[in-house]
Amino acid sequence: MRVLVTGGAGYIGSHTCIELLKDGHVPVVVDNFCNSKPEALRRVRELSGQDFPVHDLDVRDREGLRKIFLQEKPEAVIHFAGLKAVGESVAQPWRYYDNNLVSTLVLVEVMQEAGCRQLVFSSSATVYGMPDQVPLHESAPLRAINPYGRSKLMIEDMLRDLVQAEPSWRIALLRYFNPVGAHESGRIGEDPNGIPNNLMPFISQVAVGRLPRLRIFGGDYDTPDGTGVRDYLHVVDLALGHVRALDWLAQATQGGATAINLGTGQGHSVLEMVAAFEAASARAIPCDIVPRRPGDAASCYADTALAEKLLGWKAQRGIADMCRDAWRWQSQNPQGYV
Ligand code: NAD
Ligand code: UD1
Repeated sequence: MRVLVTGGAGYIGSHTCIELLKDGHVPVVVDNFCNSKPEALRRVRELSGQDFPVHDLDVRDREGLRKIFLQEKPEAVIHFAGLKAVGESVAQPWRYYDNNLVSTLVLVEVMQEAGCRQLVFSSSATVYGMPDQVPLHESAPLRAINPYGRSKLMIEDMLRDLVQAEPSWRIALLRYFNPVGAHESGRIGEDPNGIPNNLMPFISQVAVGRLPRLRIFGGDYDTPDGTGVRDYLHVVDLALGHVRALDWLAQATQGGATAINLGTGQGHSVLEMVAAFEAASARAIPCDIVPRRPGDAASCYADTALAEKLLGWKAQRGIADMCRDAWRWQSQNPQGYV
């Protein structure tokens, strides 16, 4: 199947392109490279030994996107393109709403015109806000607590409204937990701009000597060791989840917009992740426990039963694999893609 992949040069998008190619699909990438580099796609070609179309375009460019649909005739879309940094979204909410909402509005409009009505959307566990209880089931209350999270929740709502009005649309709203790790080749991985906000890229950069020490945000949570617990998910498992979601949409006999958690269902603390990374890299990760980060929950992990039931998908890789692959990528590419 020809699959339009917006944001296909990014961290999750590049890994998904590899799995799509492996499964016999043709990814058609649309990316404006605002948070990624063409080098990532060059390496996807190198790893897969296959070529595929790439369009340097902002998804909000309606005319440009129309032309791509006419030329490429995709049958389905995976919509990764979006801005994703929580702190930046608080400082620049309009930029986040403009990029994330308008890109989705334009994309859906152009898909509708082209008669392409299968969409996989990158949502996030962030739509749950502070969980009342874990594991988080898809039916848990939705209450995003920052502009990034609200942009994801608004898009979910928009897509649910679309399906109400146009029941032939088939949409998977994939709520990712914490994607980490890298392709096992060490050739593609996460390459954040500036100092990373997220735990795993931060640990990796400490291990490789780019950053001096890790700050652990809070040691007094109500968790087994006092540090925050999250559901870390290997990015290759996540990529495979997208391929399964496409298969599921293609076989669906009726339309709908279905939210599905993608996580492992296992929670791991910050200290556990530090220990796993130290073991994988054979490097010490110097760290200090500092006050909690505002907006952080104590514990957040997924109920994964729906993904298993609907998609037949279950994460296969554990935290040792995640740390090993993150370290391979980081140690072989200490400055990322440059
Ligand atoms: P990323 O920044 O690496 O990839 C996003 C890609 O989209 C980048 O290549 C960027 O250049 C592109 N892009 C952004 N706006 C665009 C636009 N208007 N037009 C064209 N291209 C545009 O991020 P990622 O980690 O790969 O995340 C992919 C998606 O998954 C995002 O929507 C993100 O919000 C969501 N998500 C990510 C995580 C995570 O922890 N990485 C967790 C939950 C959800
Ligand atoms: C964060 C975002 C979330 C987003 C997700 C993926 C917040 C409040 N949440 O989730 O919206 O979907 O990233 O992009 O920003 N930690 C440290 N030191 C660090 C970094 C993190 O101790 O330098 C801790 C955090 O307190 C947390 C855990 O590590 O307990 C994971 O943090 P992170 O990787 O930022 O992910 P989330 O907070 O789950």
